[in-house]
Amino acid sequence: MFERIYEPLHPDYRVYRDFLKHLPEESTPEDYQTDQELAKPCLPVEKPVSTDVLQIPLPAFSHDILKKPDILSVLQDRVSRRVFKKTSLELEALAFLLWATQGVRKVVPVKNGKASLRTAPSAGARHPFETYLVVRNVTGLEKGIYRYLPLENTLAFLKPGDFSNETIEACAYQRFCGLAPVTFFWSVLPYRTEWRYAYISHKVIALDAGHVCQNLYIACEALGLGTCAIGAYDQEKADQLLNLDGSEEFVLYIAPVGNY
Ligand SMILES: Cc1cc2nc3c(=O)[nH]c(=O)nc-3n(C[C@H](O)[C@H](O)[C@H](O)COP(=O)(O)O)c2cc1C
Repeated sequence: MFERIYEPLHPDYRVYRDFLKHLPEESTPEDYQTDQELAKPCLPVEKPVSTDVLQIPLPAFSHDILKKPDILSVLQDRVSRRVFKKTSLELEALAFLLWATQGVRKVVPVKNGKASLRTAPSAGARHPFETYLVVRNVTGLEKGIYRYLPLENTLAFLKPGDFSNETIEACAYQRFCGLAPVTFFWSVLPYRTEWRYAYISHKVIALDAGHVCQNLYIACEALGLGTCAIGAYDQEKADQLLNLDGSEEFVLYIAPVGNY
């Protein structure tokens, strides 16, 4: 046994540790049914957007976009990058990054609902995330807040403006996050996963998020761009920035992207 060198900040820290464990089958009552089994409606695979919101089509891209097509070098060279040039990001590059992280390959029927199959894996194909962008310097895009609509392959333009300061505050004053030409914010809609996995959802949601951000790292490295996973952020400010209710949908993970 090791000697604990710190006092846990929270007396119930084991609750947090237990969240990482897979609950044994026998802890579930025999007659327990998930909302999926009860045939309750699931959330749509993509959060709907109101018809009066402008949708900007994303450009197509080809293999030519890859500056470093070799997976061995991509994995070897991948690091977290926190210093970005002031140069703008091409919309085509952004389209590639969005596809690489959350692009939808197929929507498929599942028992009592629908699922999407994407470039990243997700437990039960629930894909509980939405991708928001705070854009500062992307060719062809006005500064502002956008949401990726993977089914339409468009960007919903939610709010114009320069949100550099709000981004820095939301990212717990990590300034590089607000200076990047674009900052990815992934929100989670926990019920997408809870509908199928109930109380074991929260562990797999955290696992799912890691895959999405790793895809961003890999895609950035292949394009000669830099990114850095951000887990230290101000929950309330991040949710406020994106106008999320903080309960049914809230920010889970952030990543600025730019040229380095
Ligand atoms: C879940 C997670 C959260 C992170 N949060 C931050 C963060 O808030 N700020 C930061 O500068 N780096 C953050 N990082 C980046 C790590 O510091 C970085 O991955 C680590 O130092 C290893 O360096 P490398 O990515 O260059 O290999 C985070 C990474 C992960 C995976």
